[in-house]
Amino acid sequence: MKRIHKVAVLGAGTMGARIAAHFANAGVPSYLFDIVPPDADGPARNKIAAAGLEAAKKSKPAAFFDPSLARLVTIGNFEDDLKRLAEVDWIIEAVVENLDLKRALLKKVEACRLLRPIARAPGHDRKLRGRPQAARRS
Ligand SMILES: NC(=O)c1ccc[n+]([C@@H]2O[C@H](COP(=O)([O-])OP(=O)(O)OC[C@H]3O[C@@H](n4cnc5c(N)ncnc54)[C@H](O)[C@@H]3O)[C@@H](O)[C@H]2O)c1
Repeated sequence: MKRIHKVAVLGAGTMGARIAAHFANAGVPSYLFDIVPPDADGPARNKIAAAGLEAAKKSKPAAFFDPSLARLVTIGNFEDDLKRLAEVDWIIEAVVENLDLKRALLKKVEACRLLRPIARAPGHDRKLRGRPQAARRS
């Protein structure tokens, strides 16, 4: 059985940030990436992922079993950090519900990953027909 040492979650919204929190609860470190806000520079380029992580830290009921587990989540963005996907064992896609945006993002991911498994937030697999098989796994 393959061990999961590190994961990446694409999309730091309601689903993505909490999925990253669940991995942290299981002791698994993650990358949590989101889009870059318009005209953002420096650390502000990760502002959306940071806001998603903050929301998960403050959520009630708690997303993290213990607040200190948030240290296992490393934020980033889709423009600067996709190369980090080469480090992870599992990628979970949880971006906004727009098929064209999802396909465009997965295309970039495939370029970084050469078709290692990608999982998606539940409920949309049929819409991804036409993507390579690895991108349709959940
Ligand atoms: N929330 C739920 O209960 C739920 C349940 C099942 C499945 N889902 C699915 O999970 C996915 C994420 O849902 P959510 O509720 O977390 O949504 P959300 O709106 O909370 O988060 C979506 C994230 O996508 C990011 N985003 C915005 N524009 C983008 C772009 N152009 N490219 C890439 N990312 C962009 C946003 O910044 C945001 O952080 C959707 O496909 C949704 O249908 C959600």
